[in-house]
Amino acid sequence: MPDIDSILQKYPFVQTDNLIPILQEIQENLGFISKEALIKVGSHLQMPTSKIYGLATFYNQFRFEPKGKHHISICNGTSCHIHSNAIIIKELYKKLGIKSGEVTKNGLFSIEETECLSGCGKGPVMAVNDKYFTSMTVEKVHEIVNFYMQIENS
Ligand code: FES
Repeated sequence: MPDIDSILQKYPFVQTDNLIPILQEIQENLGFISKEALIKVGSHLQMPTSKIYGLATFYNQFRFEPKGKHHISICNGTSCHIHSNAIIIKELYKKLGIKSGEVTKNGLFSIEETECLSGCGKGPVMAVNDKYFTSMTVEKVHEIVNFYMQIENS
């Protein structure tokens, strides 16, 4: 797995156009954009770290903390949107007290709103790590999250 320095070596020219591809590659390999990564990218592209952070937070694809043990992907694609996913997303946020891109204080759960999860006919769709749940309802949000909470308490 390439580290931050070897990813940056692939972009030898100082071009701000490279910012998003670099951040995407770092996230793909390290799972999130660390503070160290922001600093190194800033010095590589000769941009202030605060500017990079500001630009990166504009795209909600980037995360700045490692994922939780149980990482929840909630689909925000068009089809799920039509199937009222907003109610599911709101309930999930309320249940865990975090939003997309955040991790619970105990590190057990994280949430990420994603593009299509390939289950459009059975939306809203949610996944916990690699397990998929279709036709989500408010009740199912509670059942599923409670299940994973119980695993941790048993
Ligand atoms: S839009 Fe949600 S699964 Fe395709």
